[in-house]
Amino acid sequence: MKAAWSTPAMLVAALLFGVAASMAHADGEKLFKQQCAACHAVAANAPAGMGPNLHALIGREAGTLAGFPYSNEFKKGLTGKSWNPELLDAWLEDPQNLAPGSYMMYKQADAEVRSEIIVYLQTVK
Ligand code: HEC
Repeated sequence: MKAAWSTPAMLVAALLFGVAASMAHADGEKLFKQQCAACHAVAANAPAGMGPNLHALIGREAGTLAGFPYSNEFKKGLTGKSWNPELLDAWLEDPQNLAPGSYMMYKQADAEVRSEIIVYLQTVK
């Protein structure tokens, strides 16, 4: 008798716990895989996807990955700037602010998510 109702209740509890746990432990690598990896590789020397490889991004001058066809809009907005956490944060918040017309069709309004991803990218070097 008890099992008949407690099973769904436990399932709900497990789902809720799962969500809470994944938010508490949302680490940058996982977020990167969810949000960026469809378009960006991070492994050294991995081929570019729709976007340039982001290995050792921090400190790299924007738009300089050899062989990647950056848009003219990207180059116009970012040439001469180097990627640091502040620039990356502004880029992820809205690429179209920094480089109107850029091909990166992504933006992230949640500062915490951006910050986790940026911390992760700083470790990929
Ligand atoms: C839908 C595909 C897509 C997604 C998702 C995406 N990007 Fe991009 N990204 C691009 C494209 C395309 C460019 C090149 C833009 C251009 O040339 O206009 C780019 C450029 C960049 C650059 C410039 C790199 C350089 O070499 O100067 C950075 C940094 C970047 N993306 C970071 C990220 C991060 C971090 C995420 C996840 C939070 C992300 N992107 C999600 C497609 C994407």
